[in-house]
Amino acid sequence: MYKIIRWFLFQISPEKAHHFTITCLKILFKIPGAAALCKKIFVIENPKLAVNIWGLEFKNRVGLAAGFDKDALYYNELSHFGFGFIEIGTVTPLPQPGNEKPRMFRLLQDNSLLNRMGFNNQGAQLAAENLKNRKPGLIIGGNIGKNKNTDNSHANADYLKCFIALYDVVDYFVVNVSSPNTPNLRDLQEKEPLKALLNELMDLNNKQPKVKPLLLKIAPDLSTHQLDDIIDIVSQTKIHGVIATNTTIDREVLHYEKEKVKNLGAGGISGKALTQKATEVIKYLHTHSNGAFPIIGVGGIHCADDALEKLNAGAALIQLYTGFIYEGPGLIKQINKKLLSQNYN
Ligand SMILES: Cc1cc2nc3c(=O)[nH]c(=O)nc-3n(C[C@H](O)[C@H](O)[C@H](O)COP(=O)(O)O)c2cc1C
Repeated sequence: MYKIIRWFLFQISPEKAHHFTITCLKILFKIPGAAALCKKIFVIENPKLAVNIWGLEFKNRVGLAAGFDKDALYYNELSHFGFGFIEIGTVTPLPQPGNEKPRMFRLLQDNSLLNRMGFNNQGAQLAAENLKNRKPGLIIGGNIGKNKNTDNSHANADYLKCFIALYDVVDYFVVNVSSPNTPNLRDLQEKEPLKALLNELMDLNNKQPKVKPLLLKIAPDLSTHQLDDIIDIVSQTKIHGVIATNTTIDREVLHYEKEKVKNLGAGGISGKALTQKATEVIKYLHTHSNGAFPIIGVGGIHCADDALEKLNAGAALIQLYTGFIYEGPGLIKQINKKLLSQNYN
């Protein structure tokens, strides 16, 4: 069924298809009974799927990755598909339009996407407003970044502003320094600036009535030396975990469309081409840190076995983005069914 819907959606540009789909969902779920029907079709509820991490009770381990609901407009509708958690953002302190269109491309033969969205969003304040309608029990992460026009020397202030704006309405935070689509953002992954940023955020976090889990989202393109630095930094700054990974700038991961992608320009690749690279990062972090912190594994999960591979590599939770687009909402149930059948706990 989803393959037919997908065929129609893939006739229009990826960004238009995205907006069309989520607008349809918004309308669909206004129909009485639609949410209940969707739940019946797509959701498995079983206490054996639940997991408690950072004091948060996740109904299951499968989340929606950042970038899909940047402005926190659709998380209630998306939750009807059975996600255990949803991450909104990346938000920046000020609204910004992102890069020029087209900025998202399908790489069909590789089951992948190339994007250079550039943190298009309506600002942290508006996302916070939108999150006031959240349903109880739904775990929401807030992914935060800096505005394109903010120089890296002032970047920390941007992250602090986003933290303050979202503090009351999210369950955990993600510090995004790994998008390839904001100029020089990835420089913030270097040891000293990163430590300074995370220390400032943790100082602010520690002053709040309740400390919220603060995670770092990293690129899959870091060297093993840089990954060792990340392990040190997590331990020194006492942040709560890592999300591995964001999209890759490495074109070698593509099997079929290396030539095509040359003409598409800059951007990060997600989807099946990223599966192995992201899993290797998770495995490295988990092994070399002796499992010192929880990892959210993301990158190229398109089937239940991909999910299991991420968990076996050391991820405590997983997230989907491109797989959700290519395989449809049935993927969440498929993964949870597999976890139940394997008695994964
Ligand atoms: C169109 C698009 C937009 C994205 N936007 C963001 C973003 O704003 N912030 C972020 O941290 N990651 C963003 N991502 C990265 C995803 O959250 C995820 O880390 C990456 O796509 C790998 O997972 P996947 O292979 O399941 O897509 C985006 C990905 C795509 C495809």
